[in-house]
Amino acid sequence: MKSIADIHCHLLAYVDDGAEHTAEMEEMLTSQAEQNVEVICFTPHLRTKMFTSSDDDIYRRFVQAEEFVRRNQLPIRLYVGREYYCDESFLKRLEFGGILTLGGGDALLIEFSSRYDTDTICEYIRRTEQAGYLPLAAHVERYPAIGAGVDQVKRLIDAGARIQINAGSLLGREGLRQKLFCWKLLKLGLVDVVASDAHDPKYRPPILGECARKIETKMGQACAQKVLWDNPLQILSL
Ligand SMILES: [Fe+2]
Repeated sequence: MKSIADIHCHLLAYVDDGAEHTAEMEEMLTSQAEQNVEVICFTPHLRTKMFTSSDDDIYRRFVQAEEFVRRNQLPIRLYVGREYYCDESFLKRLEFGGILTLGGGDALLIEFSSRYDTDTICEYIRRTEQAGYLPLAAHVERYPAIGAGVDQVKRLIDAGARIQINAGSLLGREGLRQKLFCWKLLKLGLVDVVASDAHDPKYRPPILGECARKIETKMGQACAQKVLWDNPLQILSL
């Protein structure tokens, strides 16, 4: 594929459980460029007592990433957002401010506890939308309640969510069950965005190039372009 956008990844160093140091970040940025990823939105976790980097911390690391890309003339445009864990403090944030949207647009990447049932997840989606944001539900295949069936994903869509799945799940790196579920969602046209959710160069690397080839082969070029370029750019308001 000519151009790919990755709007869910943990490439920035020192801010969450993504890149552990600058060299890892640089290795992953270089790898992304080699795979024709031309647009990246970094999405460091924000979760009470677990991932607590401030937006200022994120921007400091973002500047480092920009410098590396410029110095090495990598053809990548960089943006920043966050991956918000849905809990009480997230709801307070929705009410009182301090939200970093994806690329400064309207969309918020949100993730859920694996213990939440579908009703709870839908309620967070509705609250996000009511606060004026477009909810992008992160890696829906990973939640037991949602992975139970296609109908559960449809409920998230009805509640107002856009749907994101991980490249690694599509490629079978998270087991056969998640792989089959993801291909089913894609075939039914229920997926808005495929992203890398990359965390490190070795165990959870950026693999959107390989993923794009697989989607093109199995689903056709138009589908690949939609979930890996058109929709991600629309969500970033580009
Ligand atoms: Fe993530």
